[in-house]
Amino acid sequence: MKVIIARDYGQLSAFAAHFVVRQVQRKPDLVLGLATGSTMVGFYREVAARHQAGDVSFRRATTFNLDEYVKLPEDHPGSFHAYMRRHFLDHVDLPRDRAFLPNGNADPILAEAEAYEERIRQHGGMDVQVLGLGQNGHIAFNEPGSSLASRTRVKRLEPETRAANAADFGGEDRVPRYVITMGVGTILDARFVLLLASGVEKSRAVKAAIEGPITAWWPASALQMHRHAFVLLDSEAACLLTRRYDTVEDVLSDPYEEYFWEGK
Ligand code: GLP
Repeated sequence: MKVIIARDYGQLSAFAAHFVVRQVQRKPDLVLGLATGSTMVGFYREVAARHQAGDVSFRRATTFNLDEYVKLPEDHPGSFHAYMRRHFLDHVDLPRDRAFLPNGNADPILAEAEAYEERIRQHGGMDVQVLGLGQNGHIAFNEPGSSLASRTRVKRLEPETRAANAADFGGEDRVPRYVITMGVGTILDARFVLLLASGVEKSRAVKAAIEGPITAWWPASALQMHRHAFVLLDSEAACLLTRRYDTVEDVLSDPYEEYFWEGK
């Protein structure tokens, strides 16, 4: 696990975009796993700006989103389909038929979960998976206690997660109860993982994921088992960590930076 501390949210967002842009430049037909949530907004804004500046094209790329609510219309503003159009797809040249999200309205939903896994496999798996972090340590919608070997499936949300996402729905009781989400095992299969966390409310989960033991009760701790997991934090999210980690400047001035990007 490589932990990198950004001074603030702006630097975190720009560096995350820099990482992904570099990967797409190296491999234009990259298979990119994408996440939603408020943390990702700055990252998508930076990626869109880099695209508009002519630095990167997604014409040959493919994307797979982590998760979606079950039985929520795709055009509901709280859906992850709507989020992705708003923050990413409307601003870049990625062909829409290669931007995959799980279909939360599929019936039967379990068949959709299996089909989603199969589609990821057919595309050769994720090259890079971008991840956010829940306050309770979840990644995607893998709530505490999720099997660390889990694959795409339906999960019931914990009350704290419904509370955290209440603003998108105008109240906690309107947040859907069920979701379809990639599993921890699906995520661990990606060749690179880049987890972003910002703000003091994530600091407990960050501490557990990085400096705690590997446990299903903090699903993000499973990234300790990954060969090329990068965790990018702002200083607030990092405030409970006790060891010393690289800053963004340390990484950018490292003469072996190329090895870093190649995951060596
Ligand atoms: C959501 C998503 C996660 C996301 C997390 C954090 O519920 N399913 O993929 O990483 O919660 O969201 P935020 O960035 O808004 O704190």
